[in-house]
Amino acid sequence: MSAADHVDESTVVLGIETSCDETAAAVVMGGTDVLSSVVSSQIDVHARFGGVVPEIAGRAHLELIRPVINEALDTAGVHPERIDAVAVTIGPGLIGALLVGVAAAKATAFALDRPFVGVNHLEAHLYAALIEDPNLEFPAVVLLVSGGNTLLLSMDAPGSYRLLGATIDDAAGEAFDKVARFLDIGYPGGPAIDRAAQQGNPRAVDFPRAMLHDGYDFSFSGLKTAVMNHVRQHPDVASNDVAASFQAAVVDVLAAKLMRAARDTGARSVVLGGGVAANTLLRSEVERLAVVDGFRVALPSRAMCTDNAAMIAAAGWYRLRDHGPSRLDIGAVPNLALVADTVRTNRSAALRDRR
Ligand code: KG4
Repeated sequence: MSAADHVDESTVVLGIETSCDETAAAVVMGGTDVLSSVVSSQIDVHARFGGVVPEIAGRAHLELIRPVINEALDTAGVHPERIDAVAVTIGPGLIGALLVGVAAAKATAFALDRPFVGVNHLEAHLYAALIEDPNLEFPAVVLLVSGGNTLLLSMDAPGSYRLLGATIDDAAGEAFDKVARFLDIGYPGGPAIDRAAQQGNPRAVDFPRAMLHDGYDFSFSGLKTAVMNHVRQHPDVASNDVAASFQAAVVDVLAAKLMRAARDTGARSVVLGGGVAANTLLRSEVERLAVVDGFRVALPSRAMCTDNAAMIAAAGWYRLRDHGPSRLDIGAVPNLALVADTVRTNRSAALRDRR
């Protein structure tokens, strides 16, 4: 394939993702058929620091990127010549980490003489649900909850979305990570709280539900402070009860606003994306409420919620089909916005602050 106008169901895209602490590569055909998806996590490398160390992440990506790409090609059983385009996350993320993936993708595209496609990491999270539910009914409302962002978007079609609301301070995942670190219950924080909460009482502490009835924006930093104050005042409180009560407060607000936005915008489907979408309670609450309100639900599998390259390849396929290839001289953009000039993501800052 030499031009973007031949993008169809047989078009094979190699996706590459290195924006934070996962080195990932995937081969996806036709935008939704995942032939392989390899994710090499650096969790163990960063665990002893309690968060992602940007310098170490960049070096680890450098060591892992080639083996991970080769493994993705081998697992998919495709020869490099069968790749029609190379898509990569260009932002937002940690600059040293992004640069490794962007350089690898450009080199691969150049060597194979194939189109190069720069992908917005946040936009790619929106495609994770489409990979698993290609018949997703639009309009949809998407709740994108990760370590660096909490966004509520209305989506009319792939590539067409409108920002409804965002966090005004901490991202939901950032709150999970910081509370887990404060409670000293494990790293990464989200899965640790998810596990601890299953042994705790979600009604043990009545934590605040900030801005519950107030627009589509979110605020989680007050909740984080409320958790810290409560534990300092009640040092004997069970961590599992605090984890469960904290998680219940976050999920109540996320699920309520998602459903309200879906009702207000006349959506047919509600969609979750981003690492926090792997949360057990959030998934079950959204499924429960969607049934009550009559919405279809698209919940990506847990592996598709957290960072992966299949969603990058999928987003790359749509971008190539609708907008053509990117220029080889575009670079990594740590603060890349999702909705042009509407949202300035704080993802790269939040990724650093998680430490
Ligand atoms: O999307 P992601 O993999 O990377 C970013 O782009 O940030 O999201 C990572 C975030 C972290 O804050 C992590 O603690 C959170 O997602 N997370 C969870 C769960 N799994 C991952 N939060 C709550 N419950 C989970 N099961």
